[in-house]
Amino acid sequence: MTREPAIRRATTEDVEVCHDVMWRSVTDFGRRNGTPLEGTASDWWASGERLQRFLATHAAEWWVAEEPDAGTIIGYGRSIERGGLFELTEFFVLPKSQSRGIGKALIERVFPVGRGDIRSIIATTDVRGLSRYYAAGTVARFPMLTLTGTPADARPGDDLKARRLSADSEADLDAQREIERSILDFAREDSEIRWLLEDREGYLYVRDDMAVGFAFVGQHGVGPIAAVDPVDLPGILLHVEGRACELGIERLEFQLPAPNEVATRHLLGRGFRLDPWVNLLMSDRPFGRFDRVIGFGPPVFL
Ligand SMILES: CC(C)(COP(=O)(O)OP(=O)(O)OC[C@H]1O[C@@H](n2cnc3c(N)ncnc32)[C@H](O)[C@@H]1OP(=O)(O)O)[C@@H](O)C(=O)NCCC(=O)NCCS
Repeated sequence: MTREPAIRRATTEDVEVCHDVMWRSVTDFGRRNGTPLEGTASDWWASGERLQRFLATHAAEWWVAEEPDAGTIIGYGRSIERGGLFELTEFFVLPKSQSRGIGKALIERVFPVGRGDIRSIIATTDVRGLSRYYAAGTVARFPMLTLTGTPADARPGDDLKARRLSADSEADLDAQREIERSILDFAREDSEIRWLLEDREGYLYVRDDMAVGFAFVGQHGVGPIAAVDPVDLPGILLHVEGRACELGIERLEFQLPAPNEVATRHLLGRGFRLDPWVNLLMSDRPFGRFDRVIGFGPPVFL
């Protein structure tokens, strides 16, 4: 008789093993999908440890599946909830244990139906995952594109001023939050912005003393980025690219909602290339104005 895997809540002790499960599961999917991914598990850990620890301590739900006898972790799921936006951040089962119902047992705990004002997922195109996400009440809304390139020296025109966002300035944090809330129907808390600013430079873009956009850029990723009016996206992106070039960042990756045509055309025009790996934004209802947003990268949450 085959015994069922045990499902239990994760603890911060599980953070590295879960990362390993994610790497094995997602690189296997990449190979099967004809879109292989680069880097070893330790390469990914070196650049992603900070994010993994953030997710571990800020998870709304985090559960693991274990082999009944050996007790080894063979799958996990995790979600995060901020200001009514409930997002599934990770959902991975080891290749040899897939399609046995482990994902079902995990997602019911990690992303329970009915929880969250807006329910959202940045999903791979794995069909097992997609069928589970439809069962969880979400629908594919649009593709999430990755545009990658080497940043070149660039600067925006004179009318848009880039001002460094300070974690010590309530006015700066308020301005960022107001823009985010007006565009996405939710806003990150100040603590998350402070966490972002420890590792990324944050900028507010100002015209006539009015903040009209924001961006975050650093060695370990770019985003989130947003503009009150999409017309300002090219200027913001030129500043981000120029700053990345000055910081010596060799590879810049943007997570672009496909409806953001202004940013997509701008980046393609700058020589950025579309990654063949395309994700999907799934949600239980339409929300946000994604024609003026670039998500957090890497693509675990918005
Ligand atoms: C996505 C993943 C976590 C799901 O876990 P799992 O244990 O394999 O999933 P389950 O066995 O619980 O469920 C798979 C479901 O897909 C269904 N399914 C499989 N192929 C399908 C297809 N072609 N069309 C429709 N449904 C399909 C199965 O019937 C099953 O649903 P059911 O239980 O209602 O019959 C796992 O497959 C995985 O790690 N995939 C690779 C990594 C990845 O892309 N993760 C998603 C990150 S967003």
